[in-house]
Amino acid sequence: MPDLPMTLPSEGLPAHVTIYEVGARDGLQNEKAIVPVEVKAEFLNRLADAGLTTLEATSFVHPKWVPQLADAAELLAMLERRPGVDYPVLVPNERGLDRAVEAGVDHIAVFASATETFAEKNLNRTLDSQFAMFEPTVKRALAEGLRVRAYVSMAFGDPWEGAVDPAQVAAVGRRLVEMGCRQLSLGDTIGTGTPGHAEAVIDACVAGGVPIDQIAVHFHDTYGQALANTLAALRRGVTTVDASTGGLGGCPYAKSATGNLATEDLVWMLDGLGVSHGARLADLVETSVWMADKLGRPSPSRVVKALAGAD
Ligand code: HMG
Ligand code: MG
Repeated sequence: MPDLPMTLPSEGLPAHVTIYEVGARDGLQNEKAIVPVEVKAEFLNRLADAGLTTLEATSFVHPKWVPQLADAAELLAMLERRPGVDYPVLVPNERGLDRAVEAGVDHIAVFASATETFAEKNLNRTLDSQFAMFEPTVKRALAEGLRVRAYVSMAFGDPWEGAVDPAQVAAVGRRLVEMGCRQLSLGDTIGTGTPGHAEAVIDACVAGGVPIDQIAVHFHDTYGQALANTLAALRRGVTTVDASTGGLGGCPYAKSATGNLATEDLVWMLDGLGVSHGARLADLVETSVWMADKLGRPSPSRVVKALAGAD
């Protein structure tokens, strides 16, 4: 079994992609059993050792809403922060910001919904009132010198409302960027998008005033489309891709959400295309095998399955 793909570049792709690793946050927020904080810290350390430089570490959301990440402060206190590695965290509101700043965080991500129903289910807000929660949070974070990313969830399909109009996604995204969020990650929370759809959503955001170099993509792989959608996004000029080592992931407030695009699957494709990214595939696979043992089930990543059994 080959342990690296043959490299054959393809035209129209960026030379470098930044992998925004969400395994420790998106992956572990959805686990039924709470993962011990020491395991989370070791997971993050292993990911840094594997060459990943952006590791979304945890969430400062209400601990009752996501008990799986209630240990956020404890985790950050025990983490060996590696030089050159960025550890953003999710923050929904000013209370979350207070907690994050106290924990020494310098990069946060707010997370908006493109749909009314998910805004209510995930944030206990209406579509419109979610902005009133983010506005003072983002403003203060920027004033304190923090970097701010924003997600738009349900940017493709919504389990309650069906297909989502790209213009609606662009309108939400634009408001977040106007607020000062430096990066906008388009979330296919339930994984229903396909490549043409990915292009349409990106194009709508760009037409709505969001610069392409501020757009990132966040594909869940529920329908097996995440890698194809990612390639479509790269061809549109996106250079930041969210992924989760081992394909962990999901959202506790969207039952149809399953794992994210697996980082190993992404890395295999990027290596094959000759696009640089800085991560070492063998170390990621080893980490996923280690994590699968901790979680008691195998990784859904195709690349992990192929390589973990290889000599
Ligand atoms: P709420 O109940 O409306 O909160 O929840 P509130 O503002 O009314 O406050 C109620 C109480 O909670 C107050 O305490 C607050 O201080 C406290 P009291 O005064 O009554 O004693 N509180 C907090 N405590 C600790 N940390 C906080 C916090 N905020 C308020 N941050 C809230 C609103 C947004 C907090 C809640 O809905 C929440 O925590 N939601 C988070 C849901 C979540 O984490 N979902 C998963 C992440 S999103 C995702 O996975 C999608 C993504 O991956 C992209 C994609 O795939 O599309 C990013
Ligand atoms: Mg997600």
